[in-house]
Amino acid sequence: MARTRFLLSLINFLVAGQCYCMAAAETNILTDQSSLLSLKSSITHDPENSLANWSNSTFVCNWTGVTCAHVHQNHLRVESLNLSHKGLVGTIPPHLGNLSLLVNLSARNNSFHGILPNELSRLSQLIYINFESNDLTGKIPSWLGSLSKLAKLFLQDNRFSGSIPASICNSTSLEKINLSENQISGSIPKNIGNLTLLKELDLYSNKIEGVLCLKTPGSILTTNKKPLGVAAPKCKVFDFPLQILVKIHPRVGDFALISFANTGKTS
Ligand SMILES: *[C@@H]1O[C@H](CO)[C@@H](O)[C@H](O)[C@H]1NC(C)=O
Ligand SMILES: *[C@@H]1O[C@H](CO)[C@@H](O)[C@H](O)[C@H]1NC(C)=O
Ligand SMILES: *[C@@H]1O[C@H](CO)[C@@H](O)[C@H](O)[C@H]1NC(C)=O
Ligand SMILES: *[C@@H]1O[C@H](CO)[C@@H](O)[C@H](O)[C@H]1NC(C)=O
Ligand SMILES: *[C@@H]1O[C@H](CO)[C@@H](O)[C@H](O)[C@H]1NC(C)=O
Ligand SMILES: *[C@@H]1O[C@H](CO)[C@@H](O)[C@H](O)[C@H]1NC(C)=O
Ligand SMILES: *[C@@H]1O[C@H](CO)[C@@H](O)[C@H](O)[C@H]1NC(C)=O
Ligand SMILES: *[C@@H]1O[C@H](CO)[C@@H](O)[C@H](O)[C@H]1NC(C)=O
Ligand SMILES: *[C@@H]1O[C@H](CO)[C@@H](O)[C@H](O)[C@H]1NC(C)=O
Ligand SMILES: *[C@@H]1O[C@H](CO)[C@@H](O)[C@H](O)[C@H]1NC(C)=O
Repeated sequence: MARTRFLLSLINFLVAGQCYCMAAAETNILTDQSSLLSLKSSITHDPENSLANWSNSTFVCNWTGVTCAHVHQNHLRVESLNLSHKGLVGTIPPHLGNLSLLVNLSARNNSFHGILPNELSRLSQLIYINFESNDLTGKIPSWLGSLSKLAKLFLQDNRFSGSIPASICNSTSLEKINLSENQISGSIPKNIGNLTLLKELDLYSNKIEGVLCLKTPGSILTTNKKPLGVAAPKCKVFDFPLQILVKIHPRVGDFALISFANTGKTS
């Protein structure tokens, strides 16, 4: 048994290591630099001149908002990009998908518009995505479901529409999802309960409707924060447009909040 477990973790290690090396082998710090220069050139307005030192003449790891880390064989790669609160106007270019070892991506409180391009699905190391308070449109990307390390997804206060992709239930590292204040419609994916680490799912101020299915027993439903005192059945059909908060206790010590309110009309 112990031996099997050892072999399994060895296989895991090798597989994980291989993926990591493949991602790293195709790209390098110069790829990172050119990805970021593409991002800069897709920014049409930079009121505080925040990206002034994003140029070939300075080392990319010293650029504003960029943090690098030493990866295997001691190579430096861009690990974190934080462009929050800079008043930037522009789009997210597909080239950003070449930042293959990016762990944190934050561009909170700017005016990025357009979609999150499919190429970002290549950012397999992402743990944290924050595009809160921008003008992003299109659907919540289905490729988010392929980011197996993604723990925090903050896309609130944008103009995303369409329904929440079912694939999100494949991203089983997710702990916090905030999609509030968008124009998202449709229902909550039926396998949302697969996200066993999920502590917060905030869908407040959208046009969500339908059935919420929870795997976890012992949930407490509350309306306007007043407990209904009901243990959730496997599937609960909510009456919209009531503002509903659902608190879930998947297991002792865990606390989950699912809150959503329908600001749209009931159909
Ligand atoms: C930076 O250097 C790369 C590679 O030498 C070149 O292709 C690119 O045009 C340069 N970019 C700028 C903004 O100078
Ligand atoms: C980056 O900035 C640090 C601190 O300002 C400086 O010591 C270092 O030489 C810079 N690195 C490069 C490659 O320019
Ligand atoms: C780039 O600008 C930031 C913010 O002004 C500064 O902290 C950083 O040292 C600058 N880097 C270089 C290489 O000049
Ligand atoms: C990003 O930078 C802002 C300040 O500009 C800071 O408040 C925030 O904590 C940073 N976010 C991350 C994820 O590092
Ligand atoms: C958003 O960013 C601007 C700078 O562009 C800043 O003045 C403002 O305080 C930020 N707002 C929030 C809520 O952080
Ligand atoms: C980066 O990404 C773009 C668009 O996805 C691609 O066309 C380009 O070849 C990539 N560049 C490098 C250096 O890998
Ligand atoms: C990534 O973001 C998380 C959460 O804000 C923070 O704790 C962590 O230090 C960040 N890592 C890097 C490399 O910026
Ligand atoms: C979830 O992942 C599995 C296995 O990779 C795949 O077969 C399935 O299509 C994915 N589900 C969705 C909804 O993307
Ligand atoms: C999610 O849960 C459903 C129902 O239990 C199951 O059929 C499906 O395979 C699960 N998907 C993943 C990606 O774990
Ligand atoms: C989600 O984001 C909104 C807007 O920033 C915020 O008010 C709300 O508290 C967040 N939800 C959670 C569960 O943190």
